[in-house]
Amino acid sequence: MYMTTAELREAFLSFFKQQEHQIVASSSLVPHDDPTLLFTNAGMNQFKDCFLGTEKRSYTRAVSSQRCVRAGGKHNDLENVGYTARHHTFFEMLGNFSFGDYFKHDAIRYAWQFLTEVVKLPKERLLVTVYESDDEAFDIWAKEIGVPVDRIIRIGDKSADKPYESDNFWQMGDTGPCGPCTEIFYDHGEHIWGGPPGSPEEDGDRFIEIWNLVFMQFNRQSDGTMEPLPKPSVDTGMGLERIAAILQGVHSNYEIDIFQFLIKATATILKVSDLTDKSLRVIADHIRSCSFLIADGVMPSNEGRGYVLRRIIRRAVRHGNKLGADKPFFHLLAKGLVTEMGAAYPELAQQLPVIEKVLLVEEEQFLRTLDRGLALLDEALRGLDGDTVPGETVFKLYDTYGFPADLTADIARERELNIDQDGFDKAMEQQRQRAKQANQFGVDYNQNIAIDGKSEFKGYDATEYPASVVAVFTKDGESVKGLETGADGQVVLDNTPFYAESGGQCGDMGELLMEDGSFVVTDTQKSGDAIVHIGYVSQGEIHVGEALSAKVDEVRRNSIRLNHTATHLMHAALRKVLGEHVQQKGSQVAPERLRFDFSHFESISGNSIRTIEQLVNEQIRANYSVQTKLMDLDEAKASGAMALFGEKYDEKVRVVGMGEFSTELCGGTHVERTGDIGLFRIMSEGGIASGVRRIEAVTGRYALDSLYNLADQLNEVSGLVKGDMSSARDKVQQVVERSKWLEKEVERLNAKLTALAGSSLAEQAIEINGVKVLVSQLEGTSPKALRSTVDDLKSKLGTCVVALATVSDGKIGIAVGVSKDATSKVKAGELVNVVAQQVGGKGGGRPDFAQAGGSDEAALPAALESVTPWLQERL
Ligand code: ALA
Repeated sequence: MYMTTAELREAFLSFFKQQEHQIVASSSLVPHDDPTLLFTNAGMNQFKDCFLGTEKRSYTRAVSSQRCVRAGGKHNDLENVGYTARHHTFFEMLGNFSFGDYFKHDAIRYAWQFLTEVVKLPKERLLVTVYESDDEAFDIWAKEIGVPVDRIIRIGDKSADKPYESDNFWQMGDTGPCGPCTEIFYDHGEHIWGGPPGSPEEDGDRFIEIWNLVFMQFNRQSDGTMEPLPKPSVDTGMGLERIAAILQGVHSNYEIDIFQFLIKATATILKVSDLTDKSLRVIADHIRSCSFLIADGVMPSNEGRGYVLRRIIRRAVRHGNKLGADKPFFHLLAKGLVTEMGAAYPELAQQLPVIEKVLLVEEEQFLRTLDRGLALLDEALRGLDGDTVPGETVFKLYDTYGFPADLTADIARERELNIDQDGFDKAMEQQRQRAKQANQFGVDYNQNIAIDGKSEFKGYDATEYPASVVAVFTKDGESVKGLETGADGQVVLDNTPFYAESGGQCGDMGELLMEDGSFVVTDTQKSGDAIVHIGYVSQGEIHVGEALSAKVDEVRRNSIRLNHTATHLMHAALRKVLGEHVQQKGSQVAPERLRFDFSHFESISGNSIRTIEQLVNEQIRANYSVQTKLMDLDEAKASGAMALFGEKYDEKVRVVGMGEFSTELCGGTHVERTGDIGLFRIMSEGGIASGVRRIEAVTGRYALDSLYNLADQLNEVSGLVKGDMSSARDKVQQVVERSKWLEKEVERLNAKLTALAGSSLAEQAIEINGVKVLVSQLEGTSPKALRSTVDDLKSKLGTCVVALATVSDGKIGIAVGVSKDATSKVKAGELVNVVAQQVGGKGGGRPDFAQAGGSDEAALPAALESVTPWLQERL
């Protein structure tokens, strides 16, 4: 049964919807709050906490089509892309999930029904595997579904000393949810080489795994122990491109509709006629991962996720170069991708301008060094002894020409060579060490303190609150009973008005006031659900169990509130003025200013800055009351509240609204009415990475101060030009015009003086064999004016050689003129260099006139003296 990829995705979601599954949108490729995971690589990532039982949702069955990237990090398929029929950097995983709802029976039944009834795969083409000891799954397949037992294969652990290390025991990572699984395979037919799973020929392409059903049962701990999950659950994953290949009757994923479209688009742009070229596949694969990564907020950079993105882009650009591309082409493909996938992923369509711009900038940048790098590599490969490119060459290509190591490896592989990865890693490590030594920071507080407790935040309505001390830690995070006067440390309270740094808003400062002592809070941070007050005991002692009054520095907090509310207004204003593609990339809300980073691809004109500023100030004057509401996430999103892309929110969220102008999800502290902000001013705008701009702005008293500053400066300027504020502009203009006139006047007088000096100079000429010779150093003239003096003297003296020099601003100028009738004996260019060489300079010109510079002022008199004897030999 033929189905397009889009129809298949739709059919999967609607089948499970009929089985009462909630359709959940794909999460971002950037996993939220999971530093162990580079990119989202399975459908279950966004549900991890549901499996662990620490997060409750309103549904217990879910279905999704999840965008995944497997490049960089643990699951890295980047280097295989283009070499196999099934590897991709980007793919979509179809999955259905049960959180403590159904288990093995229904999971297997649904999968079978979908495959054999909905998309009508022939049953005899399917076979399955189960975990060796999973009799239950075996029996369900054999007895309930009726799969012949010779097509149910038990797969055990890889070795006896490594329990659970098996193709049929799925683990998210070294820790986290895991369990035995059953996999469904499709037999592509006898004409393709390969054996069934578990056989020695299993790596062949005949039997292809299409669907993995995981029976989530354990939470693997870091010491390897398996803790049972609160409720057995189900996590499944089916590669959309693989199943599409089967339904479209092709063997390679690259032959399915989506890829054929992209391959043809690339071939058209690059004028390539062979559609099976490997490089076309690489480019078609890479445009998907790169576009989605950029849409999800990743920007090319030199580290982490951004570096993986950069590597993929550069690999694509290099393959384009192989196909003969002589200018940027990669960014042109994003539009076609949106045509194919934009309906399923609206966020992709929305970000198209940003994607195109970021790709173009990155391509242009790499193209500047690509040719030189390739030439260097070619040279290195020609002189290569053996089949390994030395680590040093790989490093040089990386460091100087921006070739990621895997790009060099890709080129090497095409010529059946390897790279010395160890040597490269070593060179990188050395560079890292050098950078580290150049960049030593002080030791920070260790907030990895172990505390299970939860602190109640009371700071939305209060800045002072009675509390008791729940835990005390030293600066290094060691749990203690108390701290003495002068000690640095960290304090956790049951209730606190102190806001812990989050959502861009910086942590509060203030004091914890004990009966007879005080703890000065210099920062507030989160550790799990606990709010940690960081600081020192300024007086008395602080102890666990003690009652105290927690008092936030109110003036500072108020300044922060103004800036936070203003940040929301500015965010909304930016989207109105610049466009909906503007997305928050980061923000910092401090007392003295706010900083906001956002996606936008060009600098913002002075006019637009003014419009944004005015729009925000209009909202301030409108004096909206700032409303906060707790809402269901879905309800909040439906109401149009702006949520941060890729951010993970609880099901209940706090929504902050200001009139019709701005509605955003936010946990921060805000003013009561927008009018409290008083005044908003943008202080600077600039780019911080490709496609990311940063605005810094001030509010309230700081905004007023910035105006006072301007006024003070203007006053000072007025004083300097002896005017007042209203006349200062005109007066400064007069001063500038006058100074221009004076400069011209000085130049004119200089020329006059030089000419005058010239006529008296003419008298100083001596005669050598009928040729007048004049050598002199002039004062108070400029090298520029020498030329006309030399010309004057030449016309006065007739047959002559004139050599003049002058020093101005530490620079020597030399000019030599020779009358035409003497150039057969003396060339001006030659003579000027006789002098110039002695004063550290060089010059040149025609036979009748030449000029030179120099810097060694002390050597000038002797150099000029040497001219006459030199001429005597020649005239
Ligand atoms: N999470 C499982 C996988 O990625 C379904 O294979």
